[in-house]
Amino acid sequence: MNLKQQFLEIEKNLAPCVGALGELHPNSVDDLAHVIKAAENPKEILDIGFRRGVSTAMWLLTSQAKVTSIDLYSPEKHPSGDFTKSVTYLTKTFANRFQFIRMDSLNIPKKEDWQNKFDLVFIDGDHSKDLVLADTKNAIQHLKVKYILFDDYYTGAAIYIKEAITKYSLKIVNTYLPHPNSKWVRGVSGGGHCLVKVL
Ligand SMILES: C[S@@+](CC[C@H](N)C(=O)[O-])C[C@H]1O[C@@H](n2cnc3c(N)ncnc32)[C@H](O)[C@@H]1O
Repeated sequence: MNLKQQFLEIEKNLAPCVGALGELHPNSVDDLAHVIKAAENPKEILDIGFRRGVSTAMWLLTSQAKVTSIDLYSPEKHPSGDFTKSVTYLTKTFANRFQFIRMDSLNIPKKEDWQNKFDLVFIDGDHSKDLVLADTKNAIQHLKVKYILFDDYYTGAAIYIKEAITKYSLKIVNTYLPHPNSKWVRGVSGGGHCLVKVL
């Protein structure tokens, strides 16, 4: 089985996709596998914006890293549906490699034990200007990460991502084009990504 087929097997066990779209396209699993190599095989990854766990599942599949995923909402109270099933399944399947924390990414600086913990942060939470800039600042200044992967690099949020890249003198390592193929009926998202190195 190729990576995409493996991902689709895992995806069957996640909570169903409900409501508005906005998760990684299954083809993105190959992009994330590339990110893992380009970001020098991160040992710990922080995934900002869990939703029902699609990107988290991909990180767990494509790497050996420990993955911490945060989301603003509790699993059973998310506007896009109850994702308790995803948390339970991923915790059981990837024992000792996954944890979900209900948390606002703006509270990252309050987690003192997170300094220097993560090698890679995936920024896929709130795509507004203020949050993209705040998540980037926290990743660099508080978490002191080596690499950041921005989601939605080819959407309306790109302008804020580019502003963050300039503001913090980040080095673009690679960009990943969107996957607009709408055969993925449960989520046609595919906003592309940008991997940057913190200098
Ligand atoms: C685009 S979805 C994430 C999709 C997910 N990465 C995937 O591939 O399936 C964005 C998520 O970020 C969460 N979110 C929005 N603002 C946030 C914040 N300030 N802190 C943490 N999570 C946030 C939302 O609740 C939503 O579940």
